[in-house]
Amino acid sequence: MGGTSDSEHPWWERGVVYQVYPRSFQDSGGNGVGDLAGIERRLDYLASLGVDAIWLSPVFPSPMVDFGYDVADYTGIDPLFGTMAEFDRLLSGAHARGLRLLLDFVPNHSSDQHPWFRESRSSRDNPKRDWYIWRDPKLGADGSRHPPNNWISDFGGSAWAWDEATGQYYLHAMLPQQPDLNWRNPEVRAAMFDVMRFWFERGVDGFRIDVLWHIVKAQGLPDNPPNPDWEPGINERDRVIQLYSTDQPEAHEIAAEMREIADGYSVRTGQERVLIGEIFLPFGRLAAWAGTPARPEVHMPFNFSLIENPWDAATIAGLIADYEASLPAWGWPNWVLGSHDAQRTAARVGQAQARVAMMLLLTLRGTPTLYQGDELGIGEVAIPPDRVRDPRELRQPGLGLGRDPSRTPMAWDGSPHGGFSETEPWLPLHSDWRARNVAAEERDPTSMLSLTRALLRLRRAEAALSVGDYAPVAGDGALLAYERRVGETRLLVALNLGDKALALPNAARGGERLLSTLPGEATELRGNEGLIVRIAA
Ligand code: GLC
Repeated sequence: MGGTSDSEHPWWERGVVYQVYPRSFQDSGGNGVGDLAGIERRLDYLASLGVDAIWLSPVFPSPMVDFGYDVADYTGIDPLFGTMAEFDRLLSGAHARGLRLLLDFVPNHSSDQHPWFRESRSSRDNPKRDWYIWRDPKLGADGSRHPPNNWISDFGGSAWAWDEATGQYYLHAMLPQQPDLNWRNPEVRAAMFDVMRFWFERGVDGFRIDVLWHIVKAQGLPDNPPNPDWEPGINERDRVIQLYSTDQPEAHEIAAEMREIADGYSVRTGQERVLIGEIFLPFGRLAAWAGTPARPEVHMPFNFSLIENPWDAATIAGLIADYEASLPAWGWPNWVLGSHDAQRTAARVGQAQARVAMMLLLTLRGTPTLYQGDELGIGEVAIPPDRVRDPRELRQPGLGLGRDPSRTPMAWDGSPHGGFSETEPWLPLHSDWRARNVAAEERDPTSMLSLTRALLRLRRAEAALSVGDYAPVAGDGALLAYERRVGETRLLVALNLGDKALALPNAARGGERLLSTLPGEATELRGNEGLIVRIAA
């Protein structure tokens, strides 16, 4: 019944992706910032955790205004993180352990310190002028100078920065230090495609592509429509609807060209390379980014819906159904539960539900992406005002937009600074790190880490969980239940998203209990319990 066997699926469909935020994984240089040699030291941990691929947030030379998402050299390694030799060692160390390595490709914008932009801004007739998006000011009736249109930066404020020296504005969807590249210029495309080839040649297994749906803007750069739902206190970005600044048809063409490059390497080397697109769009438009069998685009357009919706059984059951329905026959689902941009799961849903959330993430149909530290259940981290680093918080303080709390260091053991560094880290550790660290959780069979390991082990052992069919099971109130099926195997997943006991779905009776988020067992589904049961075919 249903589902397909394991071997018919490429690694990225069967596997689990783990996001490493390099600044905060492991410091080996004693400066309070994580680095490549540190990650290499922790490869055994990642292999033993049971994930299949690691995605590294940017490690390229950067002024770090947006912590690496402002790239000043696409084919280098920032000295803060190490050297190219250390990168190569990390890559071969990962491969030796059967782990794939994905890099973060940031094509929409570079740093304003990138030599391309320095040239571009040097004069209006510089050959690289058109590599970025320059426009004359709009003049008011009184001769006053205004930005060319009403677009707003994702970090707040106009998306246009005035350049006094050359008398024009340049576009920046993100910070003023992150000018948008002009992907309508064939030279830009060629240069950026070469960047992908450079890393594929070195052996990387793919890319997570930053803000991919931003990459092309509508011809003529028309004003975006105002958002009637915006009010003060909401991110300024949302004052307008990003109709003309994102999700343009030409961007799909570019994604398809990127895919051609990746597929070329897959075919040539026999090692499947993968592209994951960071795209925030409603399901129907999201699915379009996978393209068609004849003209595929990214393998996985990131699905952030679990992050963006309330933690409620009916809501989540609905979004799973909507997402599944939005996928074309050839589409492959994926699920993200945390990231360096989102609030920590355990902070959002609480420690008890974080365990249920982990079971959900690792038992849904589709490739899960797990964010570093979520396997420890790192929750709320208070960042003292004088330690705030995130430009999003600094530019729009107090709206709850700050991303520092999700970017704090991993805690490895009970030694000073949690074994992350020999010195005070760039961001503080979570306050309960003495108990919530890898070594302590490894000793505790009931810890979040032990649960995560058990889930990843079960997922690897049971093809039903990775590549099986998904079938919802009706449930009331706080119950979220579904079956995963492959061949004769039927696994029932029953999740209690509330804290009161519920009756187990009928199908679970007499089944074999494989894993619970709680120690011990009961005849009912206890509050905050998630349970996986093997049931008769
Ligand atoms: C992506 C990154 C985020 C960064 C932004 C600008 O959303 O995940 O961290 O600030 O792009 O590059």
